[in-house]
Amino acid sequence: MNTLPPLPCYLNGEFTELPNAKISVMDRGFIFGDGVYEVAPVYSGQLFRFEQHMARLDRSLTELRITNPLSKAQWTDVARQLIATYAKSVGAKAQDTDQLIYIQVTRGVAMRDHVMPQDITPTIFVMTNVMKPVPAAQRATGVACVTADDFRWEKAHIKATSLLGAVFARQISFDAGAMETVMFRHGFLSEAAASNVWVVKDGKVIGVPKDNLVLEGIRFGLIEEICGAQGIGFELRRIGRDEVLNADELLLSSATKEVLAISTLDGKPVGSGKPGPVYAALYAGYQAAKAKTVQGSMP
Ligand SMILES: Cc1ncc(COP(=O)(O)O)c(C=O)c1O
Repeated sequence: MNTLPPLPCYLNGEFTELPNAKISVMDRGFIFGDGVYEVAPVYSGQLFRFEQHMARLDRSLTELRITNPLSKAQWTDVARQLIATYAKSVGAKAQDTDQLIYIQVTRGVAMRDHVMPQDITPTIFVMTNVMKPVPAAQRATGVACVTADDFRWEKAHIKATSLLGAVFARQISFDAGAMETVMFRHGFLSEAAASNVWVVKDGKVIGVPKDNLVLEGIRFGLIEEICGAQGIGFELRRIGRDEVLNADELLLSSATKEVLAISTLDGKPVGSGKPGPVYAALYAGYQAAKAKTVQGSMP
């Protein structure tokens, strides 16, 4: 029985709905997780920081030696058509909807062989869905997180669809009734299962270096910009476990979480145990950036 909702999607050049979108069992995305993806928010019908998502998609595809099958204009056009179709399907105007665009490119279909086959056609899949904002209670109180060793591979900078490491990592926090799993590699902070992690100490925001051990979230650049605009110190460097445990504030960031305060880590309060002033400043800056995107698109 197919229980998928009839959400609009795009598969290899055709617009359709999820229950009708079918790929070959020999797709290397299915067989090897040999593909990359992007998740881009849409506020009031407008793609948010889509340029940056496109740039990261290019970087991920380059790592996999896959030629980007669409131009930036084509990706944008597909995304915009899906945004409009989804809005229509729920009886709304596009500008009255917040959505989440998911993009996936796999190497394509071939007989199973680990070696990357040449000259096959990438599989292109794009869908949209309603954006589920962080519940107000979690915004107000912050969220619980737990820690774990980072057992994922050492190419975490690629936004790859082979996500078993992330699935295992996220399950650790889910089983503990927590929101995210904050991971450490050899005693140094890396990131969370599906978010970047930020330490606040003495009013400064500290993040980890943009290297192969973490995914450079689109919020890296945005948080740096907000800090710059608000006169908040910003630094990227290696962060030891002790610094995380003694942080004044700890934050998560991702497309859906935006910035989100961590209230407890492994059951112990972070700082005051409540979302702090730097979180509040970044969250306000983030909302202003969203509003600017939406206003900028108005005629
Ligand atoms: C492992 C990992 N790190 C960081 C992020 C945050 O990236 P972004 O801010 O682009 O959503 C994600 C997002 O899903 C992720 O999966």
